[in-house]
Amino acid sequence: MAKKAWGGRFEEPTDERVERFGASIDVDRLMADQDIRASMAHARMLARTGSLTEQEAEDLCRTLEQIKEEIARGTFRFSTAHEDIHMNIEAALVERLGDTGRKLHTARSRNDQVVTDFRLWVRDAIDRIVPLLRNLQASWVILADRFADVIIPGYTHLQPAQPVLFPHYCLAYVEKFERDADRLTDCRRRVNQCPLGAGALAGTSLPIDREFVARELGFEAILENSLDAVSARDFCIEYLACLATVMLHLSNWAEEWIIWNSTTWNFVRLPDRYCTGSSMMPQKKNPDVLELTRGRTGRVLGALQTLALVLKGLPLTYNRDLQEDKPPVFAATQTVVDCLELAAAIVRDAELNRERIADEVERGYLDATTFMEYLVRKGVPMRTAHEIVGKIVARCEKQGKPLRSVKIEEFRSFCDRIEPDVYEVLGAANAVRAFRSRGSTAPSEVEKRLRYWKQKLGLGG
Ligand code: ARG
Repeated sequence: MAKKAWGGRFEEPTDERVERFGASIDVDRLMADQDIRASMAHARMLARTGSLTEQEAEDLCRTLEQIKEEIARGTFRFSTAHEDIHMNIEAALVERLGDTGRKLHTARSRNDQVVTDFRLWVRDAIDRIVPLLRNLQASWVILADRFADVIIPGYTHLQPAQPVLFPHYCLAYVEKFERDADRLTDCRRRVNQCPLGAGALAGTSLPIDREFVARELGFEAILENSLDAVSARDFCIEYLACLATVMLHLSNWAEEWIIWNSTTWNFVRLPDRYCTGSSMMPQKKNPDVLELTRGRTGRVLGALQTLALVLKGLPLTYNRDLQEDKPPVFAATQTVVDCLELAAAIVRDAELNRERIADEVERGYLDATTFMEYLVRKGVPMRTAHEIVGKIVARCEKQGKPLRSVKIEEFRSFCDRIEPDVYEVLGAANAVRAFRSRGSTAPSEVEKRLRYWKQKLGLGG
C-alpha cells in the first residue's frame, strides 16, 4: 500500500473501495501535460522567491521533463493508490529526488493545482477546436465554389419557398461556424486566468509571485480572489455551452443532409467512404456519419447539463464534487473534435445531383414572391399583389404548368398592370437575379461575401 501524501493524521489505511471510488487517475491523466507545465512554472517561481534553491528547481524541472516523456511513451506507471494525476507525478518526484520532490508542493494545494491544470487543458482544447471550425468553414467555401452556378430551393417549414444560390446556402453555415469560433475565442479570455497561488482556499503565508507563474504559463491575468479561484467552474459551463452550440449547428446540417441524401429527395451524394451498408438489405448505402453526428449532439448537451448539476448545490470553496467536472468536459471535447473533422471531409467531398435539384426548383413556384414584388413595383398594393399571384399560382397548379409558361393575355386577365417584362422575373434563375437587398441571395451579394470568406480563410482566388 503506497504511503499517502496526506497520511499524517490517519491511523488506518484507506478502505480499498474508497480508494477505487475516489480515484480519478483514469480520467485526469489526460491533464498530465498541463500538470507538468504548471509544476515547472511553480518550481521556478519557488526558486525566485527563495523557497527552493536554483539547483532544486532545476532538478525538479529536469525530472518533470523525464516523467513527461515517459508518459508520452506509455512507460510511466500510474497507480490508483495515488488517486489522481497530481499525486502520481508528485509520488514519482519524491521517489526519484527524495526531499527535493517533497518541496514542490510548497505554497500550493491540489485545489489551486487542479483547476490551473484544467484551465490550461480547456485553453489547449479551444486552440485545437477553433482551427477545426476554420477548416470546416473552408470546406463550405470550397463546396460553394464547386457548385457556384447551382440554384436550389430554399425552404421554410421544409416546403420549397424561394430559389437561392447554392453558395448562399453554403455561406449560411460559414456564418454560423464563424460565430461558434468567435464564441470560443471570447470564452478563452475568461478561461485564461490563473488560479495558482490561491492555495487550498485562502492563499498562503509563504512568499510567492503569482504574476510570474501566470506569465510563465501564458495566462492573461490572475484570479484576484483565492476563494473564487479554487471554486469557479463557470469557465467550463461557458466552454460546454460553446461546444453545445457547435453541435447544434452540426446537427442541423446533418439532419438536412440526411434528408437531402435520401433516395426520395436525392439532392446530395456522399462518397462511399463516408457511408456504410446494411447487413440485410444489399441495396442500402446509409449516411451513418451524419446520423451519429446528430445523435452525439445529445452527449454534448448532456455534458453541459451534467456539469451544471454538479455545480448547483456547492457552497464555497472546493468540494470533492468538483472532481466530477472533468469527465463531461473531456468527453464533449472529443466528440466535437471527431464530428468537426468528419464534417469538414464530408462537406468538402460531397456531390450535388444537379438534375434532381433543377427538377425540384422548376416545380415549386419559387418565383411567386419575386412575381408579387414585380406587381408592387408596378404600383399594385402588396396585399392585392399577393392575392393576384395566389390566384394565378392556383390556376397554374391545376394545369400543371410553371408561371413563366403563362401567356401575357392570360396574365392580364388577372391584372392589367402585368406587362411583357414580367418574364424577366419569372423562372428560378430570373427570380434569383431579381433579388438586390444586402445579405440576400442576389448573385452580386453572394459573390461579395464569397470573396470576403476566401480572403479571410486564406483560400486564395
Ligand atoms: N482529483 C481532485 C479533483 O479533480 C484534485 C483535487 C483534490 N483536492 C482535495 N482537497 N481532495 O478535484
